[in-house]
Amino acid sequence: MKKSVLVCRAVFPDVLERLAEHFDLETNQDDVVWSREELIAHLQGKAGVFVTGTQPIDSALLDACPELKAVCSMAVGYNNIDVPACTARGVLVSNAPDVLTETTADFGFALMMATARRISESEHFLRSGQWTKWSVDAFAGSDVHSATLGVLGMGRIGQAIAHRAAAFNMEIAYTSRSPRPNLNYTYYPDAASLAAIVDFLIVITPGGAGTRGMIDARVLKALGPDGYLINVARGSVVDQPALIDALRDGVIAGAGLDVFVNEPNVPEELRAMPNVVLTPHIGSGTKQTREAMGQLTFDNLRAHFAGKPLLTPVDA
Ligand code: GLV
Repeated sequence: MKKSVLVCRAVFPDVLERLAEHFDLETNQDDVVWSREELIAHLQGKAGVFVTGTQPIDSALLDACPELKAVCSMAVGYNNIDVPACTARGVLVSNAPDVLTETTADFGFALMMATARRISESEHFLRSGQWTKWSVDAFAGSDVHSATLGVLGMGRIGQAIAHRAAAFNMEIAYTSRSPRPNLNYTYYPDAASLAAIVDFLIVITPGGAGTRGMIDARVLKALGPDGYLINVARGSVVDQPALIDALRDGVIAGAGLDVFVNEPNVPEELRAMPNVVLTPHIGSGTKQTREAMGQLTFDNLRAHFAGKPLLTPVDA
């Protein structure tokens, strides 16, 4: 008998087709945003769930859904899942690493370029019919090539970003939980000391309690009035009110933000600022990569219910 699986968010048709071949599926192809109570109701009787990086899976939810045996997430970050609570209840968890590394690094780099070269702001100027003459200082931005890049979180994606930066002749420095002796970049012990020596600080560290508010007013001050913050990790890593103050008061030059504290809500102050490029959490958003993430999530579900080890397990 096919196992019952809930797919919480819309997925590409071919992934859906594969899922439907192997599971008794309930889907959410209209991408309805379920409340926690609705999610629990939809999970009743389900042995597996296909989630994205935003649905919170915690101990109370697990207790309310005792038949759930596998939580397979189509995201590399799993700060939304209480992994120890899953493990304690014998629920296996998987994420979707590796397949999005290069795509997310492309995006982080693109967001840095767009922010430094004021692409959104100048495009808006053109589209709204304001471009009537050439001027020497129009949208004068900052050079990315040969600048200093600080990478906060030198994991797989951080390294892929650094690799791109090297081709732009950037100086590369980083901070992470511990130095990585195999990398030829300068290590700094914390975010503030790193911010103090860079032009661009790119955040690509996991979310969760360990990194909450790591980019605070002190780090932003260290980044300084010519410095840019780029966040392609999780909104929680940045103290958002402190960032708004810093952008408004010229404490830093600008920011490129793909992630926010309370998605999809983005504070009006940020939306009104011209020196900020804002995107709706699309770091891994190419057709090829989202498809690969969906396939990997499906493969994890399938492996689990075939009695095989998960391909990309997350351990407590
Ligand atoms: C996206 O944010 C992910 O964690 O995959």
